[in-house]
Amino acid sequence: MKVTVVKGKASEVKADLLALGLPEGKAALKGEAAELDSATGGAISAVLATKTDFSGKAKDRFTIVPVSGIQSKRLLMVGLGPARGVDAEVLRKMAGAAVREAVKVKASSVALLAPSAGTGKMKAQETAQALAEGAGLGGYLFEEYRSGERKLGPETLGIVSGTAAVARSMRAGATAGEIISESVALARDLANHPANVATPTMLAKRAESLGKKYGFKTEILGPQQIEKHGMAGLMAVSAGSSQPARFIVMRHTAARGGKPIVLVGKGLTFDSGGVCIKPAENMERMKTDMAGGAAVIGALTALARLKVRTNVIGLIPSTENMGGASAFRPGDVLKMSDGQTIEIINTDAEGRLVLADALCYAKGLDPAAVVDIATLTGACMIALGVYASGLMGTDERLMKRIEAAAKATSERVWRLPLWEDYFEQIKSDIADMKNSGGRPGGAITAAMLLSKFVEGLPWAHIDIAGTSWSEKETDLVGKGATGAGVRLMVELVRSWSGRP
Ligand code: BES
Ligand code: MN
Ligand code: ZN
Repeated sequence: MKVTVVKGKASEVKADLLALGLPEGKAALKGEAAELDSATGGAISAVLATKTDFSGKAKDRFTIVPVSGIQSKRLLMVGLGPARGVDAEVLRKMAGAAVREAVKVKASSVALLAPSAGTGKMKAQETAQALAEGAGLGGYLFEEYRSGERKLGPETLGIVSGTAAVARSMRAGATAGEIISESVALARDLANHPANVATPTMLAKRAESLGKKYGFKTEILGPQQIEKHGMAGLMAVSAGSSQPARFIVMRHTAARGGKPIVLVGKGLTFDSGGVCIKPAENMERMKTDMAGGAAVIGALTALARLKVRTNVIGLIPSTENMGGASAFRPGDVLKMSDGQTIEIINTDAEGRLVLADALCYAKGLDPAAVVDIATLTGACMIALGVYASGLMGTDERLMKRIEAAAKATSERVWRLPLWEDYFEQIKSDIADMKNSGGRPGGAITAAMLLSKFVEGLPWAHIDIAGTSWSEKETDLVGKGATGAGVRLMVELVRSWSGRP
């Protein structure tokens, strides 16, 4: 979808579908919306006058087709809710709803008119970013595995802007929104691909080719180098699979970029549970156990394209967790690269093992901060459901920054405690710790293990087990992988370093 900012009157824009965002209440038809209404001979105010068909509530949608007096073929009215509440998320949803409607009616060109773009509390640039971002998120399709007819998204998106001055700042925002939503789409694609396609090798190759295209460096460690680095977790987890493991390193380097922010993503391309095999029901979802890794690839891609001024390093320990003949077993003890030992209680608690290796590696990079993101525990999904990711960490400033980024992107996070008491549950009789602390507080005990590998560093952990997958369709996501964490991490780094 090619995104442009269109200067001029909405009535003169030629699109298959023109979407008009309208807040609730009497004063909805102002400025450009009022102009559009008079061009249509009052068609919009006539719909508003019915009060039953459309009143501007957040869920309200109404299509006028055919529509006369304007150049577009159909006019979609999208409710925005109360005018005071119109923020970036409302505009993202408006754009997402418009593009999803366009897919349904096979419209190939879409234009968007948001209320008084560039005035009020949102800057023109933010408005355009939100619209472009929402359109890309809502219009995402994954049709690669259909041999028959495939759904198609619109080819062009025009964001309508009244004046030249506004159009200029809107262009920068639209470009950012386009880059960010494309990076989310990339992460969704990787997580939606089945595990027979998205292998650790494929993930590494994809990171490499994206690095070449967008200008970040990649280094891929294979089994021998993984062994050389003493990555005992990654070696143990990959032992039962015929797919070779990969440890992916991605570097975005900025002039005077300072100490790097290190982003770590869990990259389990399939988690069968290993010897402690999972039940068959819903096991297919475990192809998405690399959603954290996919989010890190997406974030690095976006940050490189946006040319952020901070150094950023992405790390992805990637493997399958299978129960082959040489698989690791319950009772095994792993000696990690920093000397700490872990007794395996459950081979299905594999994510923390490969993340511990990556955190040890991160320690050697003299990082400003380390953030890991992982589909780590079913317990987190039980605790928070699908509407918030779990946030745990040791550094208050970093946690606050992540919460601010969560607010700006509407990628919700919710804190869980990391009190030392929880460590009791993962004390081992024979080793330094064990990899499972049982069911109570499972999201926390998993994070507790991770915390032992980043002592002294500003570190935070985001558990996306519940948020990385959607069972229902909304304005911004279809069924399947959500790309959770990409926008959050991009916003975290962008707000950290100042926007170029
Ligand atoms: N990848 C799973 C967690 C998961 C579950 C993610 C459901 C998304 C949806 C993880 O590796 C796992 O199996 N965790 C176990 C840990 C337990 C054995 C201590 C869990 O949560 O049950
Ligand atoms: Mn598991
Ligand atoms: Zn897993």
